[in-house]
Amino acid sequence: MSDITQTTEADSADTTETADAASTGVDGPSATGRSSTETTAGETDEHVREEWREYAFEGDAKFAVEDLDVYYGDDHALNGVSIEIPERSVTALIGPSGCGKSTFLRCLNRMNDRIKSARVDGSVRIDGEEIYQDGVNLVELRKRVGMVFQSPNPFPKSIRENIAYGPEKHGDIDTGLLARLLNRSDADERDRLVERCLRDAALWEEVSDRLDDNALGLSGGQQQRLCIARCLSVDPEVILMDEPASALDPIATAKIEDLIDDLAEEYTVVIVTHNMQQAARISDQTAVFLTGGELVEYGETDQVFENPHSERVEDYITGKFG
Ligand SMILES: Nc1ncnc2c1ncn2[C@@H]1O[C@H](COP(=O)(O)OP(=O)(O)O)[C@@H](O)[C@H]1O
Ligand SMILES: [Mg+2]
Repeated sequence: MSDITQTTEADSADTTETADAASTGVDGPSATGRSSTETTAGETDEHVREEWREYAFEGDAKFAVEDLDVYYGDDHALNGVSIEIPERSVTALIGPSGCGKSTFLRCLNRMNDRIKSARVDGSVRIDGEEIYQDGVNLVELRKRVGMVFQSPNPFPKSIRENIAYGPEKHGDIDTGLLARLLNRSDADERDRLVERCLRDAALWEEVSDRLDDNALGLSGGQQQRLCIARCLSVDPEVILMDEPASALDPIATAKIEDLIDDLAEEYTVVIVTHNMQQAARISDQTAVFLTGGELVEYGETDQVFENPHSERVEDYITGKFG
């Protein structure tokens, strides 16, 4: 397991700047829950009890998130989220649009750092190691925690180059001009890597005879599997997926769902989906976020869908709002 920190002196997140951030007019997180008004979405407000978010799983937590708050300027997008995500499984994040699912996902590899107005307060540990501390190597972190987006975004290059790009850039395989001149080029290694990643992304059979074709000529579903293959090429431990099938037809979606199931044997998969049937089909555990950026319920997927503890979650799942 690689070390994401370059320095070791900092052992906690620098939260001093954001400690007072709850004074923005939005209710801060509180153990006693919220007031009993009705929200704009028409949900009945209720107390969020600690035990609704407690999920006892076997094995190790890949992520341990504690008291996570995210603000975009004055907009409080995530509100005191604490959750542990087990390794080598599929965790689905569901909830109505705008409830902070993508924001939460981006916290797991510090992608929100790229958004100027975003401010993150709280703790996210991967394998016990804090990612919100000084000295974290973000390139290394994002190799370990890869991401696949809603719209497939292959590079406008060949299928082969899409896969080899990351490892070559990171110096893991060397096929550059200098290496070729010095006779150190490793084209065979590159070909093995390309094949392995395409096989693992269930795409090899469809593209093995046209690896030098432009990736933009593939269908949407193939492009998305290529993006997953590209993500695998740098040897990640975690794959974050933000509505990866929402732009795809049912057949392409089914292929992605099958693939996710296979990937979870080796990787930790965290997937945002607005499709509740999809969450129920493919995930081991489900976290429900509701308006206000609150994690309301978290548990084994069957329990959350069949017997939710929270009334608001039940209303959401049965389609009363959202
Ligand atoms: N880049 C951004 N800049 C400003 N506000 C944002 C940004 N991304 C998301 N938000 C706001 O944060 C809240 C949560 O958004 P998001 O995480 O995208 O929710 P979801 O993925 O559940 O639809 C929304 O109010 C949204 O407008
Ligand atoms: Mg989103």
